[in-house]
Amino acid sequence: MTTPRHYLTTPIYYASGEPHIGHAYTTFLADALARYHRQAGHRVHFLTGTDEHGQKIREEADRRGVTPLALCDEMAGRFRDAWSELAISHDRFIRTTEDEHKVVVQAFVQRLHDRGHIYAAEYEGWYSVHEERFFTEKELGPGNTDPIAGRPVERIRERNWFFRMSAFQEDLVRHIEENPDWIIPEIRRNEVLGFLARPLEDLSISRPRSRLDWGIPLPFDEDHVTYVWVDALINYLTGSGAIDPSAPEDARGFEDTSGSWWPADLHLIGKDILTTHAVYWPTLLMGAGLPLPRQILAHGWWIAGDTKMSKSLGNVVSPLELRGHFGTDAVRWYLLREMPVGGDASYTPERFLSRYGELSNVLGNLASRTLSMVVKYRDGIVPEAAGGGLEAEAESALAAFHRAMEARRVHEALGQAMDLARAANGYVETREPWAQARDEARAEDLDETLVTLVRTLVLLSAMLSPAMPEKMLELARHLGFEAVPTLPEAQRTSSAGTRVAKMSALFPRTEFPGAD
Ligand code: MSP
Repeated sequence: MTTPRHYLTTPIYYASGEPHIGHAYTTFLADALARYHRQAGHRVHFLTGTDEHGQKIREEADRRGVTPLALCDEMAGRFRDAWSELAISHDRFIRTTEDEHKVVVQAFVQRLHDRGHIYAAEYEGWYSVHEERFFTEKELGPGNTDPIAGRPVERIRERNWFFRMSAFQEDLVRHIEENPDWIIPEIRRNEVLGFLARPLEDLSISRPRSRLDWGIPLPFDEDHVTYVWVDALINYLTGSGAIDPSAPEDARGFEDTSGSWWPADLHLIGKDILTTHAVYWPTLLMGAGLPLPRQILAHGWWIAGDTKMSKSLGNVVSPLELRGHFGTDAVRWYLLREMPVGGDASYTPERFLSRYGELSNVLGNLASRTLSMVVKYRDGIVPEAAGGGLEAEAESALAAFHRAMEARRVHEALGQAMDLARAANGYVETREPWAQARDEARAEDLDETLVTLVRTLVLLSAMLSPAMPEKMLELARHLGFEAVPTLPEAQRTSSAGTRVAKMSALFPRTEFPGAD
Protein backbone atom coordinates (compact mmCIF):
# COMPACT_ATOMS: atom_id res chain seq x y z
CA MET A 1 0.00 0.00 0.00
CA THR A 2 1.38 3.44 -0.82
CA THR A 3 1.64 5.95 1.99
CA PRO A 4 -0.94 8.72 1.60
CA ARG A 5 0.57 12.07 0.74
CA HIS A 6 -0.54 15.61 1.33
CA TYR A 7 0.82 18.73 -0.28
CA LEU A 8 -0.62 21.66 1.67
CA THR A 9 -0.13 25.34 0.90
CA THR A 10 -0.90 28.72 2.45
CA PRO A 11 -1.02 31.92 0.44
CA ILE A 12 2.33 33.63 0.18
CA TYR A 13 2.01 36.80 2.22
CA TYR A 14 2.89 40.23 0.88
CA ALA A 15 6.31 41.27 2.08
CA SER A 16 4.97 44.76 2.64
CA GLY A 17 3.24 44.29 5.99
CA GLU A 18 3.71 42.66 9.38
CA PRO A 19 2.25 39.23 10.14
CA HIS A 20 -1.16 39.59 11.80
CA ILE A 21 -3.79 37.19 13.08
CA GLY A 22 -5.32 36.82 9.61
CA HIS A 23 -2.05 35.46 8.23
CA ALA A 24 -1.51 33.44 11.39
CA TYR A 25 -4.94 31.83 11.10
CA THR A 26 -4.42 30.41 7.59
CA THR A 27 -0.97 29.26 8.59
CA PHE A 28 -2.20 27.59 11.82
CA LEU A 29 -4.91 25.81 9.89
CA ALA A 30 -2.38 24.43 7.43
CA ASP A 31 -0.04 23.55 10.27
CA ALA A 32 -2.68 21.68 12.26
CA LEU A 33 -3.63 19.63 9.19
CA ALA A 34 0.04 18.99 8.35
CA ARG A 35 0.74 17.78 11.87
CA TYR A 36 -2.40 15.66 11.92
CA HIS A 37 -1.42 13.87 8.72
CA ARG A 38 2.21 13.44 9.77
CA GLN A 39 1.02 11.95 13.04
CA ALA A 40 -0.85 9.31 11.02
CA GLY A 41 2.43 8.41 9.31
CA HIS A 42 1.53 10.14 6.03
CA ARG A 43 3.95 12.04 3.84
CA VAL A 44 3.44 15.78 4.04
CA HIS A 45 4.83 18.74 2.16
CA PHE A 46 3.75 22.03 3.72
CA LEU A 47 4.59 25.21 1.81
CA THR A 48 4.36 28.83 2.90
CA GLY A 49 6.32 31.96 2.03
CA THR A 50 6.31 35.57 0.91
CA ASP A 51 5.03 37.38 -2.18
CA GLU A 52 7.74 39.86 -3.10
CA HIS A 53 7.11 41.48 -6.48
CA GLY A 54 4.71 44.08 -7.80
CA GLN A 55 3.70 47.64 -7.27
CA LYS A 56 2.68 47.27 -3.62
CA ILE A 57 6.19 46.19 -2.67
CA ARG A 58 7.82 48.80 -4.89
CA GLU A 59 5.74 51.55 -3.26
CA GLU A 60 6.38 50.38 0.30
CA ALA A 61 10.12 50.19 -0.43
CA ASP A 62 10.06 53.72 -1.87
CA ARG A 63 8.15 54.95 1.16
CA ARG A 64 10.83 53.52 3.43
CA GLY A 65 13.68 54.67 1.20
CA VAL A 66 15.11 51.17 0.73
CA THR A 67 15.44 48.87 -2.28
CA PRO A 68 12.57 46.44 -2.85
CA LEU A 69 14.89 43.53 -2.22
CA ALA A 70 16.13 45.00 1.07
CA LEU A 71 12.50 45.41 2.16
CA CYS A 72 11.70 41.83 1.14
CA ASP A 73 14.77 40.43 2.89
CA GLU A 74 13.69 42.12 6.08
CA MET A 75 10.03 41.15 5.83
CA ALA A 76 10.67 37.56 4.76
CA GLY A 77 12.83 37.32 7.88
CA ARG A 78 9.99 38.77 9.93
CA PHE A 79 7.55 36.15 8.64
CA ARG A 80 10.07 33.35 9.12
CA ASP A 81 10.71 34.40 12.72
CA ALA A 82 7.02 34.76 13.44
CA TRP A 83 6.31 31.27 12.10
CA SER A 84 9.12 29.82 14.15
CA GLU A 85 7.87 31.50 17.33
CA LEU A 86 4.38 30.27 16.58
CA ALA A 87 5.56 26.67 16.06
CA ILE A 88 4.76 26.43 12.35
CA SER A 89 6.19 23.24 10.88
CA HIS A 90 6.41 24.15 7.18
CA ASP A 91 8.73 22.08 5.01
CA ARG A 92 9.56 24.89 2.63
CA PHE A 93 9.47 28.68 2.88
CA ILE A 94 9.38 30.14 -0.60
CA ARG A 95 10.29 33.65 -1.66
CA THR A 96 9.23 34.79 -5.12
CA THR A 97 12.56 36.59 -5.57
CA GLU A 98 14.40 33.25 -5.45
CA ASP A 99 16.23 32.28 -8.64
CA GLU A 100 14.49 28.93 -8.81
CA HIS A 101 11.08 30.57 -8.79
CA LYS A 102 12.04 33.11 -11.44
CA VAL A 103 13.07 30.34 -13.81
CA VAL A 104 9.87 28.38 -13.16
CA VAL A 105 7.70 31.46 -13.81
CA GLN A 106 9.52 32.13 -17.06
CA ALA A 107 9.25 28.52 -18.16
CA PHE A 108 5.54 28.55 -17.30
CA VAL A 109 4.66 31.69 -19.26
CA GLN A 110 6.86 30.57 -22.14
CA ARG A 111 4.91 27.34 -22.24
CA LEU A 112 1.59 29.22 -22.34
CA HIS A 113 3.03 31.28 -25.18
CA ASP A 114 4.26 28.18 -27.07
CA ARG A 115 0.86 26.59 -26.73
CA GLY A 116 -0.78 29.63 -28.30
CA HIS A 117 -2.62 30.88 -25.23
CA ILE A 118 -0.99 34.30 -25.06
CA TYR A 119 -1.44 37.35 -27.27
CA ALA A 120 -0.55 41.05 -27.11
CA ALA A 121 -3.20 43.77 -27.12
CA GLU A 122 -3.82 47.35 -26.26
CA TYR A 123 -5.73 47.68 -23.04
CA GLU A 124 -7.51 50.49 -21.33
CA GLY A 125 -9.08 50.12 -17.96
CA TRP A 126 -9.40 51.11 -14.31
CA TYR A 127 -6.40 49.96 -12.32
CA SER A 128 -6.12 49.62 -8.55
CA VAL A 129 -2.58 49.72 -7.18
CA HIS A 130 -3.79 48.35 -3.87
CA GLU A 131 -5.41 45.27 -5.38
CA GLU A 132 -2.88 45.14 -8.24
CA ARG A 133 -5.55 44.49 -10.81
CA PHE A 134 -7.89 46.07 -13.30
CA PHE A 135 -11.58 46.49 -12.62
CA THR A 136 -14.36 46.93 -15.13
CA GLU A 137 -16.47 50.07 -15.10
CA LYS A 138 -19.39 48.09 -13.69
CA GLU A 139 -17.34 46.72 -10.79
CA LEU A 140 -16.19 50.13 -9.52
CA GLY A 141 -17.36 51.53 -6.20
CA PRO A 142 -18.65 55.08 -5.63
CA GLY A 143 -16.36 57.89 -6.80
CA ASN A 144 -14.17 55.58 -8.90
CA THR A 145 -12.86 53.37 -6.14
CA ASP A 146 -12.00 49.70 -6.18
CA PRO A 147 -14.89 47.55 -4.88
CA ILE A 148 -12.72 45.58 -2.42
CA ALA A 149 -10.67 48.07 -0.41
CA GLY A 150 -12.44 51.24 -1.53
CA ARG A 151 -9.15 52.84 -2.68
CA PRO A 152 -8.94 55.15 -5.71
CA VAL A 153 -8.41 53.57 -9.13
CA GLU A 154 -6.52 55.06 -12.08
CA ARG A 155 -7.44 55.05 -15.76
CA ILE A 156 -4.61 53.29 -17.57
CA ARG A 157 -4.02 52.60 -21.25
CA GLU A 158 -1.18 50.30 -22.23
CA ARG A 159 -0.05 47.42 -24.41
CA ASN A 160 -0.09 44.19 -22.47
CA TRP A 161 0.16 40.47 -22.90
CA PHE A 162 -3.03 38.52 -22.33
CA PHE A 163 -3.75 34.94 -21.40
CA ARG A 164 -6.77 33.46 -23.18
CA MET A 165 -8.56 32.72 -19.93
CA SER A 166 -11.95 32.88 -21.65
CA ALA A 167 -11.08 29.74 -23.64
CA PHE A 168 -11.08 27.69 -20.45
CA GLN A 169 -14.32 28.92 -18.93
CA GLU A 170 -16.40 25.92 -19.96
CA ASP A 171 -13.82 23.40 -18.80
CA LEU A 172 -13.55 25.15 -15.46
CA VAL A 173 -17.31 25.24 -14.89
CA ARG A 174 -17.50 21.55 -15.74
CA HIS A 175 -14.67 20.76 -13.35
CA ILE A 176 -16.41 22.60 -10.50
CA GLU A 177 -19.73 20.94 -11.23
CA GLU A 178 -18.23 17.47 -11.44
CA ASN A 179 -16.22 17.90 -8.23
CA PRO A 180 -18.56 19.23 -5.55
CA ASP A 181 -15.79 19.30 -2.91
CA TRP A 182 -13.23 21.01 -5.08
CA ILE A 183 -13.98 24.38 -3.49
CA ILE A 184 -15.09 24.32 0.15
CA PRO A 185 -17.19 25.51 1.87
CA GLU A 186 -20.16 25.36 -0.49
CA ILE A 187 -20.93 29.05 -0.20
CA ARG A 188 -17.55 29.81 -1.81
CA ARG A 189 -18.13 27.24 -4.52
CA ASN A 190 -21.42 28.94 -5.35
CA GLU A 191 -19.69 32.30 -5.37
CA VAL A 192 -17.25 31.07 -8.00
CA LEU A 193 -20.02 29.49 -10.07
CA GLY A 194 -21.90 32.79 -9.86
CA PHE A 195 -18.82 34.62 -11.09
CA LEU A 196 -18.50 32.13 -13.94
CA ALA A 197 -22.10 32.60 -14.99
CA ARG A 198 -20.94 35.75 -16.83
CA PRO A 199 -18.50 35.53 -19.74
CA LEU A 200 -14.92 35.34 -18.52
CA GLU A 201 -12.54 37.98 -19.82
CA ASP A 202 -8.95 37.29 -20.81
CA LEU A 203 -6.31 37.95 -18.18
CA SER A 204 -3.63 40.58 -18.53
CA ILE A 205 -0.47 38.79 -17.42
CA SER A 206 2.16 41.48 -17.90
CA ARG A 207 3.04 45.00 -16.85
CA PRO A 208 5.18 47.35 -18.95
CA ARG A 209 8.60 47.71 -17.38
CA SER A 210 8.45 51.44 -17.98
CA ARG A 211 5.65 51.64 -15.38
CA LEU A 212 6.74 48.87 -13.03
CA ASP A 213 10.20 47.34 -13.01
CA TRP A 214 9.90 45.17 -9.90
CA GLY A 215 8.88 41.83 -11.37
CA ILE A 216 10.02 38.82 -13.36
CA PRO A 217 10.75 39.73 -17.02
CA LEU A 218 8.69 37.88 -19.62
CA PRO A 219 11.01 35.56 -21.54
CA PHE A 220 9.49 36.59 -24.87
CA ASP A 221 9.33 40.35 -24.21
CA GLU A 222 12.03 42.02 -22.11
CA ASP A 223 9.97 45.22 -21.92
CA HIS A 224 7.35 43.57 -19.76
CA VAL A 225 7.38 41.94 -16.33
CA THR A 226 5.02 39.19 -15.23
CA TYR A 227 1.84 40.34 -13.51
CA VAL A 228 2.41 39.79 -9.79
CA TRP A 229 -0.59 37.49 -9.29
CA VAL A 230 0.57 35.14 -12.05
CA ASP A 231 4.06 35.19 -10.54
CA ALA A 232 2.63 34.55 -7.06
CA LEU A 233 0.29 31.69 -8.00
CA ILE A 234 3.12 29.83 -9.72
CA ASN A 235 4.87 29.61 -6.32
CA TYR A 236 2.77 26.53 -5.62
CA LEU A 237 4.30 24.83 -8.62
CA THR A 238 7.85 25.95 -7.80
CA GLY A 239 7.39 24.70 -4.23
CA SER A 240 6.27 21.30 -5.52
CA GLY A 241 9.59 20.62 -7.23
CA ALA A 242 7.73 19.60 -10.41
CA ILE A 243 9.66 21.88 -12.73
CA ASP A 244 13.40 21.43 -12.84
CA PRO A 245 14.91 24.81 -13.73
CA SER A 246 18.28 23.30 -14.54
CA ALA A 247 16.89 20.79 -17.05
CA PRO A 248 16.87 21.54 -20.78
CA GLU A 249 13.72 23.33 -21.88
CA ASP A 250 12.01 20.27 -23.31
CA ALA A 251 12.63 18.18 -20.18
CA ARG A 252 11.56 20.51 -17.42
CA GLY A 253 8.73 18.38 -16.10
CA PHE A 254 5.59 19.92 -17.58
CA GLU A 255 4.68 16.63 -19.26
CA ASP A 256 4.99 14.51 -16.14
CA THR A 257 4.71 15.76 -12.58
CA SER A 258 4.58 12.33 -10.99
CA GLY A 259 7.98 12.51 -9.30
CA SER A 260 7.06 15.74 -7.52
CA TRP A 261 4.52 17.00 -5.01
CA TRP A 262 2.32 18.46 -7.75
CA PRO A 263 -0.70 18.63 -7.80
CA ALA A 264 -1.31 20.30 -4.44
CA ASP A 265 -3.79 18.44 -2.28
CA LEU A 266 -5.07 21.56 -0.58
CA HIS A 267 -4.70 25.28 -1.16
CA LEU A 268 -5.71 27.09 2.03
CA ILE A 269 -6.70 30.69 1.39
CA GLY A 270 -8.86 33.48 2.79
CA LYS A 271 -12.10 34.28 0.98
CA ASP A 272 -10.58 37.54 -0.27
CA ILE A 273 -8.41 35.72 -2.78
CA LEU A 274 -10.91 33.19 -4.07
CA THR A 275 -11.12 34.38 -7.69
CA THR A 276 -7.38 34.34 -8.22
CA HIS A 277 -7.15 30.79 -6.82
CA ALA A 278 -10.33 29.25 -8.18
CA VAL A 279 -10.44 30.96 -11.59
CA TYR A 280 -7.08 32.42 -12.65
CA TRP A 281 -4.91 29.61 -11.29
CA PRO A 282 -6.81 26.58 -12.60
CA THR A 283 -7.24 28.11 -16.04
CA LEU A 284 -3.53 28.96 -16.16
CA LEU A 285 -2.77 25.35 -15.24
CA MET A 286 -5.16 24.10 -17.93
CA GLY A 287 -3.35 26.33 -20.41
CA ALA A 288 -0.01 24.82 -19.39
CA GLY A 289 -1.49 21.30 -19.53
CA LEU A 290 -0.87 20.62 -15.84
CA PRO A 291 -3.13 18.83 -13.35
CA LEU A 292 -5.31 21.02 -11.11
CA PRO A 293 -4.97 21.24 -7.31
CA ARG A 294 -7.22 18.70 -5.61
CA GLN A 295 -9.01 21.10 -3.28
CA ILE A 296 -9.31 24.76 -2.33
CA LEU A 297 -10.47 25.78 1.12
CA ALA A 298 -11.45 29.42 1.49
CA HIS A 299 -11.85 30.45 5.11
CA GLY A 300 -13.58 33.49 6.52
CA TRP A 301 -12.43 36.85 7.76
CA TRP A 302 -11.20 37.96 11.17
CA ILE A 303 -12.34 41.36 12.29
CA ALA A 304 -11.41 43.21 15.48
CA GLY A 305 -14.58 43.60 17.57
CA ASP A 306 -16.97 44.84 14.92
CA THR A 307 -14.43 46.64 12.73
CA LYS A 308 -12.26 45.55 9.84
CA MET A 309 -8.60 45.34 10.91
CA SER A 310 -6.44 47.88 9.13
CA LYS A 311 -3.07 49.54 9.55
CA SER A 312 -4.66 52.97 9.25
CA LEU A 313 -7.17 52.26 12.03
CA GLY A 314 -4.35 50.89 14.18
CA ASN A 315 -6.49 47.95 15.30
CA VAL A 316 -4.48 45.13 13.76
CA VAL A 317 -4.15 42.27 16.22
CA SER A 318 -0.62 40.91 16.46
CA PRO A 319 -0.25 37.18 17.06
CA LEU A 320 3.23 37.79 18.48
CA GLU A 321 1.96 40.25 21.05
CA LEU A 322 -0.69 37.75 22.18
CA ARG A 323 1.99 35.09 22.31
CA GLY A 324 4.08 37.32 24.56
CA HIS A 325 1.30 37.32 27.17
CA PHE A 326 -0.22 33.87 26.82
CA GLY A 327 2.22 31.65 24.95
CA THR A 328 2.27 30.14 21.48
CA ASP A 329 -0.25 27.38 22.02
CA ALA A 330 -2.85 29.66 23.57
CA VAL A 331 -2.82 31.81 20.41
CA ARG A 332 -3.03 28.74 18.21
CA TRP A 333 -5.89 27.36 20.29
CA TYR A 334 -7.84 30.58 20.27
CA LEU A 335 -7.66 31.16 16.53
CA LEU A 336 -8.26 27.54 15.56
CA ARG A 337 -11.02 26.89 18.07
CA GLU A 338 -12.83 30.20 17.79
CA MET A 339 -13.33 30.48 14.04
CA PRO A 340 -15.62 27.89 12.47
CA VAL A 341 -13.68 26.89 9.35
CA GLY A 342 -15.28 28.78 6.48
CA GLY A 343 -17.19 31.29 8.64
CA ASP A 344 -16.12 34.71 9.91
CA ALA A 345 -15.05 35.53 13.46
CA SER A 346 -14.42 38.55 15.59
CA TYR A 347 -11.40 38.95 17.82
CA THR A 348 -12.10 40.42 21.25
CA PRO A 349 -9.92 40.21 24.39
CA GLU A 350 -12.96 38.81 26.24
CA ARG A 351 -13.37 35.94 23.81
CA PHE A 352 -9.66 35.31 23.97
CA LEU A 353 -9.77 35.05 27.75
CA SER A 354 -12.78 32.83 27.67
CA ARG A 355 -11.06 30.39 25.27
CA TYR A 356 -7.96 30.58 27.44
CA GLY A 357 -10.13 29.79 30.45
CA GLU A 358 -11.23 26.62 28.68
CA LEU A 359 -7.60 25.57 28.47
CA SER A 360 -6.78 26.27 32.10
CA ASN A 361 -10.05 25.25 33.75
CA VAL A 362 -10.87 22.20 31.71
CA LEU A 363 -7.70 20.73 30.22
CA GLY A 364 -5.10 22.15 32.62
CA ASN A 365 -7.23 21.28 35.61
CA LEU A 366 -7.77 17.71 34.41
CA ALA A 367 -4.03 17.26 33.90
CA SER A 368 -2.91 18.66 37.23
CA ARG A 369 -5.53 16.90 39.35
CA THR A 370 -4.96 13.54 37.62
CA LEU A 371 -1.20 13.66 37.90
CA SER A 372 -1.20 14.85 41.48
CA MET A 373 -3.61 12.04 42.49
CA VAL A 374 -1.41 9.39 40.87
CA VAL A 375 1.56 10.82 42.75
CA LYS A 376 -0.32 11.15 46.02
CA TYR A 377 -2.20 7.84 46.04
CA ARG A 378 0.08 5.56 44.00
CA ASP A 379 3.57 7.08 44.41
CA GLY A 380 3.52 8.30 40.81
CA ILE A 381 3.14 4.84 39.24
CA VAL A 382 0.07 4.30 37.09
CA PRO A 383 -1.72 1.26 38.52
CA GLU A 384 -2.65 -1.83 36.54
CA ALA A 385 -6.39 -1.98 36.01
CA ALA A 386 -9.03 -2.27 33.34
CA GLY A 387 -10.55 0.97 32.16
CA GLY A 388 -13.37 2.15 34.31
CA GLY A 389 -16.02 4.01 32.41
CA LEU A 390 -14.91 6.61 29.86
CA GLU A 391 -14.18 4.21 27.01
CA ALA A 392 -17.38 4.86 25.09
CA GLU A 393 -16.95 8.65 25.36
CA ALA A 394 -13.32 8.41 24.24
CA GLU A 395 -14.18 6.18 21.31
CA SER A 396 -16.96 8.36 20.00
CA ALA A 397 -14.97 11.56 20.54
CA LEU A 398 -12.09 10.06 18.59
CA ALA A 399 -14.28 8.94 15.71
CA ALA A 400 -15.90 12.40 15.50
CA PHE A 401 -12.46 14.00 15.77
CA HIS A 402 -11.19 12.06 12.74
CA ARG A 403 -14.33 12.78 10.73
CA ALA A 404 -13.98 16.49 11.43
CA MET A 405 -10.27 16.60 10.60
CA GLU A 406 -10.80 14.71 7.35
CA ALA A 407 -13.51 17.25 6.43
CA ARG A 408 -11.03 20.04 7.39
CA ARG A 409 -13.37 21.18 10.17
CA VAL A 410 -10.52 21.74 12.58
CA HIS A 411 -12.55 23.82 15.08
CA GLU A 412 -15.00 20.97 15.40
CA ALA A 413 -12.28 18.36 15.90
CA LEU A 414 -10.79 20.47 18.69
CA GLY A 415 -14.22 20.89 20.22
CA GLN A 416 -14.55 17.10 20.36
CA ALA A 417 -11.28 16.81 22.25
CA MET A 418 -12.24 19.53 24.69
CA ASP A 419 -15.62 17.88 25.29
CA LEU A 420 -13.80 14.68 26.15
CA ALA A 421 -11.70 16.59 28.68
CA ARG A 422 -14.94 18.00 30.12
CA ALA A 423 -16.41 14.52 30.35
CA ALA A 424 -13.26 13.37 32.16
CA ASN A 425 -13.63 16.15 34.71
CA GLY A 426 -17.23 15.06 35.20
CA TYR A 427 -15.99 11.51 35.70
CA VAL A 428 -13.70 12.72 38.49
CA GLU A 429 -16.66 14.33 40.22
CA THR A 430 -18.81 11.20 40.03
CA ARG A 431 -16.08 8.75 40.96
CA GLU A 432 -14.80 10.88 43.84
CA PRO A 433 -11.31 9.36 43.91
CA TRP A 434 -10.56 11.16 47.20
CA ALA A 435 -13.36 9.12 48.81
CA GLN A 436 -12.14 5.92 47.12
CA ALA A 437 -8.68 6.65 48.55
CA ARG A 438 -10.00 6.79 52.10
CA ASP A 439 -11.43 3.28 51.89
CA GLU A 440 -8.96 0.35 51.65
CA ALA A 441 -11.72 -1.89 50.28
CA ARG A 442 -12.10 0.39 47.27
CA ALA A 443 -8.44 0.27 46.17
CA GLU A 444 -9.35 -1.40 42.90
CA ASP A 445 -11.96 1.23 42.15
CA LEU A 446 -9.36 3.90 42.70
CA ASP A 447 -6.92 2.08 40.39
CA GLU A 448 -9.62 2.05 37.75
CA THR A 449 -10.36 5.73 38.17
CA LEU A 450 -6.71 6.72 37.94
CA VAL A 451 -5.86 4.56 34.96
CA THR A 452 -8.93 5.79 33.10
CA LEU A 453 -7.97 9.39 33.66
CA VAL A 454 -4.34 8.84 32.65
CA ARG A 455 -5.36 7.08 29.45
CA THR A 456 -7.78 9.87 28.61
CA LEU A 457 -4.99 12.39 29.05
CA VAL A 458 -2.68 10.35 26.84
CA LEU A 459 -5.35 10.34 24.16
CA LEU A 460 -6.00 14.07 24.58
CA SER A 461 -2.31 14.88 24.22
CA ALA A 462 -2.32 13.09 20.85
CA MET A 463 -5.61 14.64 19.70
CA LEU A 464 -4.60 18.15 20.67
CA SER A 465 -0.99 18.14 19.57
CA PRO A 466 -1.71 19.29 15.99
CA ALA A 467 -3.16 22.46 17.52
CA MET A 468 -0.92 22.78 20.59
CA PRO A 469 2.36 20.99 19.89
CA GLU A 470 4.38 22.56 22.71
CA LYS A 471 1.95 22.16 25.58
CA MET A 472 1.00 18.65 24.51
CA LEU A 473 4.66 17.65 24.49
CA GLU A 474 4.95 18.99 28.02
CA LEU A 475 1.87 17.02 29.02
CA ALA A 476 3.06 13.84 27.30
CA ARG A 477 6.39 14.06 29.11
CA HIS A 478 4.64 14.26 32.46
CA LEU A 479 2.68 11.20 31.39
CA GLY A 480 5.90 9.25 30.92
CA PHE A 481 6.43 9.67 27.15
CA GLU A 482 9.48 11.07 25.44
CA ALA A 483 7.47 12.51 22.56
CA VAL A 484 3.77 13.06 21.99
CA PRO A 485 2.31 9.65 21.13
CA THR A 486 0.65 9.22 17.75
CA LEU A 487 -3.07 8.52 17.93
CA PRO A 488 -2.68 4.78 17.31
CA GLU A 489 0.04 4.66 19.98
CA ALA A 490 -2.16 6.59 22.38
CA GLN A 491 -4.98 4.13 21.81
CA ARG A 492 -2.73 1.11 22.33
CA THR A 493 -0.98 2.35 25.47
CA SER A 494 -2.19 0.86 28.73
CA SER A 495 0.05 3.19 30.77
CA ALA A 496 0.12 0.58 33.57
CA GLY A 497 3.40 0.74 35.47
CA THR A 498 4.40 4.07 33.93
CA ARG A 499 5.96 6.68 36.19
CA VAL A 500 4.25 10.03 35.89
CA ALA A 501 5.20 13.40 37.32
CA LYS A 502 3.24 16.15 38.98
CA MET A 503 2.89 19.22 36.86
CA SER A 504 2.52 22.87 37.61
CA ALA A 505 -0.33 24.56 35.80
CA LEU A 506 -0.25 23.75 32.07
CA PHE A 507 -1.98 27.06 31.36
CA PRO A 508 -1.28 29.38 34.28
CA ARG A 509 -4.01 31.87 35.08
CA THR A 510 -3.19 35.18 33.49
CA GLU A 511 -4.70 38.40 32.24
CA PHE A 512 -3.98 41.00 29.59
CA PRO A 513 -1.41 43.47 30.93
CA GLY A 514 -3.07 46.46 32.52
CA ALA A 515 -6.23 44.50 33.41
CA ASP A 516 -7.30 44.60 37.06
N1 MSP B 1 0.09 37.88 -1.65
C1 MSP B 1 -1.28 37.59 -1.77
C2 MSP B 1 -1.53 36.10 -1.85
C3 MSP B 1 -0.84 35.40 -2.97
S1 MSP B 1 -1.09 33.68 -2.91
C4 MSP B 1 -0.54 33.09 -4.36
C5 MSP B 1 -2.02 38.14 -0.54
N2 MSP B 1 -1.27 38.35 0.54
S2 MSP B 1 -1.77 38.95 1.93
O1 MSP B 1 -0.58 39.25 2.70
O2 MSP B 1 -2.69 40.01 1.73
O3 MSP B 1 -2.44 37.76 2.67
C6 MSP B 1 -3.64 37.30 2.27
C7 MSP B 1 -4.10 36.13 3.11
O4 MSP B 1 -3.90 36.38 4.51
C8 MSP B 1 -5.59 35.92 3.01
O5 MSP B 1 -5.98 35.19 1.93
C9 MSP B 1 -5.86 35.18 4.27
O6 MSP B 1 -5.39 33.88 4.09
C10 MSP B 1 -4.99 35.92 5.26
N3 MSP B 1 -5.68 37.07 5.84
C11 MSP B 1 -5.27 38.37 5.79
N4 MSP B 1 -6.11 39.12 6.54
C12 MSP B 1 -7.08 38.35 7.07
C13 MSP B 1 -8.14 38.54 7.99
N5 MSP B 1 -8.42 39.72 8.51
N6 MSP B 1 -8.86 37.46 8.34
C14 MSP B 1 -8.57 36.21 7.88
N7 MSP B 1 -7.57 35.99 7.04
C15 MSP B 1 -6.91 37.04 6.48
O7 MSP B 1 -3.20 38.33 -0.63
